[in-house]
Amino acid sequence: MYNYAIIGFGGLGKLHLSNLVKIEKERGDIKLQAICGADKQSFKENVKINLGTVDLSEIDIDNCNFYQDYKEMIDNEKIDFILSTLPTFLHKEVCIYALKKGIHVFSEKPFALTIDDCIEMIETAKQNEKKLMIGHCLRFDSAFSKLKEYVDNKTFGKVYRAEFTRYSQLPKWTWNNWVLDPLKSGGAILDLHIHDVDIINWIFGAPKSIYCTMTNNKAKQESVFAQFYYDDLLIISNADWSMTQTFPFEAKCLVNFEEATIVIKEGKLFVYKDGESFVESFENENCFMNEIRAFLELVIDNKPCDKTSPESVLESMKIAMRELDAAKSGERIVL
Ligand SMILES: NC(=O)c1ccc[n+]([C@@H]2O[C@H](COP(=O)([O-])OP(=O)(O)OC[C@H]3O[C@@H](n4cnc5c(N)ncnc54)[C@H](O)[C@@H]3O)[C@@H](O)[C@H]2O)c1
Repeated sequence: MYNYAIIGFGGLGKLHLSNLVKIEKERGDIKLQAICGADKQSFKENVKINLGTVDLSEIDIDNCNFYQDYKEMIDNEKIDFILSTLPTFLHKEVCIYALKKGIHVFSEKPFALTIDDCIEMIETAKQNEKKLMIGHCLRFDSAFSKLKEYVDNKTFGKVYRAEFTRYSQLPKWTWNNWVLDPLKSGGAILDLHIHDVDIINWIFGAPKSIYCTMTNNKAKQESVFAQFYYDDLLIISNADWSMTQTFPFEAKCLVNFEEATIVIKEGKLFVYKDGESFVESFENENCFMNEIRAFLELVIDNKPCDKTSPESVLESMKIAMRELDAAKSGERIVL
């Protein structure tokens, strides 16, 4: 039996647990040993995030142990792997503490707040021979895997242009409002837009140069408008979390190939060709469930993960950090 713990039991901690209890029934070889969070009275409460409400009413957490101090939990419990779903400014310290104690780590995106921190996390995992996965759930979304296949195989010819957009209501639901402080979250670039940067890097690689602007009206670093220049391809990527509270979360990707225009939105991939078009639906898939399954296969079944690695996520982080530099300089900068 492999014992696991969740550290940081807010929106994402609860979302992952809701999937893990289902996987627990399928596999039969994992067990929730402990939960660590800053705010014990909220442990059993449902939680609302921009993707909807996580319902805990059917989940029994009474058989696990509760902690408020992650070091106390790690030192006292027999734990094989943790899910770290903490505010971003805590990702590095908790990850390194756990890896050094011989525990495998799944750590939510974004990787960390600096490139040096990401590298230290990768090195610590290697030195301690433990697995580290960064939770970029979109790599486990079949619509994006399909798009990658189309681009890699040149199914519809060359790609001329692509556009990735991601818009959310102002995130007011996090613990002590940590996400609205760019020093704790990295602002909309590292928290929201990083999803698209990681997919762009995964599918198209790093751009040659970047132009980027940000706005600061309702919150600091609330939006990012970026242009990624390649030799013969332009990608535009906008993310903004300054929408009103009734605005429904929206994410869309458009890729214009020589012979088709592809749109991904709301779990569907639309292929528009001259004379014919078709839709592939992945609405019933759950990319969060897919990524946790892949993490368990990596840790327990020793099956390498072909969709992501900490090193490839580090490359995405480097692009995002250069966007910050470009936004500060107001100039188009070379990577
Ligand atoms: N993959 C995705 O699509 C996605 C979506 C949202 C958030 N995230 C990421 O997940 C992480 C968590 O975000 P969230 O929205 O769940 O935040 P949240 O504020 O809802 O939850 C964080 C939790 O951590 C707890 N916490 C704070 N300090 C702690 C400490 N020292 N020890 C233990 N617990 C502590 C808080 O009590 C809170 O419950 C962030 O890095 C965020 O970027 C990923």
